[in-house]
Amino acid sequence: MPPRHFLSTRDWSRAEIDALLAQAADFKADPPGPLLAGKTIALVFFNPSLRTRTSMEVGAWRLGAHAVVLEPGKGAWPIEFEAGVVMDGDAEEHISEVARVLSSYCDMIAVRKFPEFKDWSVDREDAAIRAFAAYSTVPVINLETIEHPCQELAHALALQERRGDLQGKKYVLTWTYHPKPLNTAVANSSLLIASKLGMNVTLLCPDERYLLDDRYMSAAASQAAEHGGSFSVSHDIDASYDGAEIVYAKSWGAIPFFGAWDEEKSIRDAYKHFIVDEQKMSLTNDAVFSHCLPMRRNVKATDGVVDAPTSLIIEEAANRLPTQQAIMTTLLDTTNCSAAMLEREVIHA
Ligand code: CP
Repeated sequence: MPPRHFLSTRDWSRAEIDALLAQAADFKADPPGPLLAGKTIALVFFNPSLRTRTSMEVGAWRLGAHAVVLEPGKGAWPIEFEAGVVMDGDAEEHISEVARVLSSYCDMIAVRKFPEFKDWSVDREDAAIRAFAAYSTVPVINLETIEHPCQELAHALALQERRGDLQGKKYVLTWTYHPKPLNTAVANSSLLIASKLGMNVTLLCPDERYLLDDRYMSAAASQAAEHGGSFSVSHDIDASYDGAEIVYAKSWGAIPFFGAWDEEKSIRDAYKHFIVDEQKMSLTNDAVFSHCLPMRRNVKATDGVVDAPTSLIIEEAANRLPTQQAIMTTLLDTTNCSAAMLEREVIHA
C-alpha cells in the first residue's frame, strides 16, 4: 500500500484533523516517551526556517527519532524535478533518485520548498513536493510549499486552547503590508483550517488583486458549508473587524503580479494602513490576534497588538512541536490516533 502523506489538510477529514489536534494536546499535557525510537526523518529545506526546522528536529529527538537536515544546493546536491528533461543545468540529480534513496535510509521525509514566484500557474501545481510524494516509499510531510498544513494545526490548537470550541466563531484573515511580496501558503492554509473547523471566515484583503487562488477560496466555501460555518470576502476593514473573535494576519504578493513584482510594489505600498493596530482591534469582540511568524513589528502589526494578552503568536509557534509530533507518530501509526480517528468518525457520522 502507498504511504499516507501529510501534504494538505484537504486530504484529511475533519475527524482526522480533530484526532491529530487531540493527540497534540495530549502530547503537550503529557510529553510522550520514545514512540519513534530507532526511526529517522529527512528534513529537506530549500528555504530558510527558524520554527519549522527547530520544532521538527527537537520534536523528532524527543520521540527518540533522528532527524537529518538536508539543504539542496548548499550541503546537498541541487535537484531536478521535471521528468524527461536533459539535465544540463545546475541540478546534479533527479527527484526520482533523491526520493527513493532517502526512502531507503529514512522512515519519513519532510520538505520545505517555497514557490519560485515567477508564474503562479506553475507554482500552484506544487510540483516539487508532489514529486517527492510520488517517488517516495515513505510518508512525506509538507513543511510549507503553497500551503503550510503544519502551521494550520499549531494555529488551530492555540485557538482551541484560548477560545475552546471554535464552531461559529468569527474568524478574520487579514492581508497586511510587507515590503516584499510573500508566499500565499499561510493565507491559503488559514482559510483551509478555519473553514474545516466550522468558523465564519472572512478574507479581508485590499482589493480583488489580492484575492487568493480560487482553489482555496472554493475549498473554504465548501468546507465551511459542510461544517456549519461560512466564508466571505471583504475589502472593508471596519466591517471585517466588527465583532471578530479571531484576527489572523498575513501578507502575500498579489497573484496577478507573479513575475512582475516591480509593478505590484506601488499598489502594495498604498495599503500600509492594513496594519493590525489597537484601533482596529477595538472594533472586535475582544479578539485574539495571531500570526505565523516571522513578523515585522509595526509593519504588519503594532507592538501594542503583538504584546497584548490577546496575542497568541508565541503559543502558536510553541504548538508546532506537539502538533508535528502528532503528525509524525500518526503517519508511522505509533499512537492510538488511528483508533481515535475511528471513534471520532463514528461520533461525527
Ligand atoms: N512559521 C514558520 O513556518 O516559521 P519558519 O519559517 O521560521 O519555519
